[in-house]
Amino acid sequence: MWKKILGIGASKREKDLVALYDRVPKEKRPRHIAIIMDGNGRWAEGKGLIRTAGHRAGVHTLRSILQVCVDLGIEVLTVYAFSTENWKRPRPEVDFLMSLFSEYLEKEIQEMEDNHVRLRFLGREDGMSEALLRQMHGAEDRLAAGDGLQFNIAANYGGQDEILRAVRTLAARAAAGDLAPDAIDAAAFSAALDTAGQPPVDLMIRTSGDLRLSNFLLWQAAYAEFWFTETNWPDFTPEEFVQAIVDFAQRKRRFGGLNPRKGK
Ligand code: IPE
Ligand code: IPE
Ligand code: MG
Repeated sequence: MWKKILGIGASKREKDLVALYDRVPKEKRPRHIAIIMDGNGRWAEGKGLIRTAGHRAGVHTLRSILQVCVDLGIEVLTVYAFSTENWKRPRPEVDFLMSLFSEYLEKEIQEMEDNHVRLRFLGREDGMSEALLRQMHGAEDRLAAGDGLQFNIAANYGGQDEILRAVRTLAARAAAGDLAPDAIDAAAFSAALDTAGQPPVDLMIRTSGDLRLSNFLLWQAAYAEFWFTETNWPDFTPEEFVQAIVDFAQRKRRFGGLNPRKGK
């Protein structure tokens, strides 16, 4: 079982994190946090290890960040696990990532269930093996009743691909006479995306120093605040994660309007 931060057995470090988060006013907390978990390869190379060792180490980080999100009561966490462009990598690395993915699901599903996590995969299915797809669907079904953290894993995901799939779905409905083209507004479009029903991204975190989106959540991140760190994903800590949230809470979001203070 994951330790509940405020429960028996919680360490001072865990309590400090919660205390830090508690000081962030409720209305300033991000509802949806997205993470581009980058830098596994660089982490491994820096240690003289093979790249796949970095991916394995990255799974430990994901485990701790998911746990923190559960404990803090975050509403939605979306992580970028494999992009539609990552198929360009050498076959052994791709195969390793797919098997790591399956191992992760197998090992973590019970704890996710115990913690009321609801799971959804974002992305396209083709290219993934039948066995892995069965496992992914099985995990989604098993956690469908979860009323805690909404956890999205973007696997075989590309923002452009997601938008195109949504466009095709809507166009097919329009062609069939089920949908008036004028009815395709932002809400209808959002509802055709893989993240249907979920709030837009508030905070987008990318580790490992690159300052780009790499085709992640193009629509959903329209007004996201960005937070970058040089830390490679395997070294990313719950402290840094909470620091990102604290920094986010200090940003002034305008959504195209005036600065609330000056605008009054
Ligand atoms: C992120 O780490 C994980 C995936 C893309 C699957 P990378 O493998 O991209 O690591 P770097 O960017 O090469 O260091
Ligand atoms: C983005 O990282 C994808 C994931 C983290 C899964 P990449 O390492 O693939 O991105 P680029 O190629 O540096 O833009
Ligand atoms: Mg990378």
